[in-house]
Amino acid sequence: MLTRIAVFVSGGGTNLQALIDAQKSGVLKSGKIELVVSDAQDAYALTRAKENGIATAVALRKKLGGQAGFEQELLRLMEEHNIDLIILAGFMRILTENFTSRFPERILNVHPALIPSFCGKGYYGLKVHEAALAYGVKVTGATVHYVNEIPDGGQILLQKAVEILPDDTPEVLQRRVMEQAEWILLPQAAEMVSHKLMQQGV
Ligand code: GAR
Repeated sequence: MLTRIAVFVSGGGTNLQALIDAQKSGVLKSGKIELVVSDAQDAYALTRAKENGIATAVALRKKLGGQAGFEQELLRLMEEHNIDLIILAGFMRILTENFTSRFPERILNVHPALIPSFCGKGYYGLKVHEAALAYGVKVTGATVHYVNEIPDGGQILLQKAVEILPDDTPEVLQRRVMEQAEWILLPQAAEMVSHKLMQQGV
């Protein structure tokens, strides 16, 4: 039985695309993306999912009455679709212990920096690259880690360094980190953990 995967997204979904491509090419072979959940109605990631015949759901935090209702709805979706593994791929919401404790070592996140640099509350998306450039580091990268109740604080699974070049803008750097690190690491980690869960016979 393949590991049943849900991918949580908020925006463009290029990391979701990398997972879909990995499934097609066989890099991701021990798991199957069963559901894509977005916290934003207009996320382009939803279009990518639909184009690939993957079920989608939208959970709007405000409409669900705040964080508790939001997480309750996420939990309901995970149960409805029998999800074994959750992958946060450009998901811009913090999940509390109420949710994360239900999935120990079953939630993965990709972060666009070398944790413990430029991570935690307030460091997401382009802000991470702005901070790296403002600090003046010469090397950054991406990290895939397990998710627990501490933002970006779970056990690290994979990391890859990416060089910062003199004329980099946050946008240029973001693209390089995605191309050279995120889109490679996330499918690798997805396969690694899917394989582990499959062997455990989840
Ligand atoms: C990616 O760089 C991802 O690592 C980052 O947002 C971008 C989403 O792009 N995620 C975070 O900062 C989460 N803390 P995508 O929607 O094209 O995958």
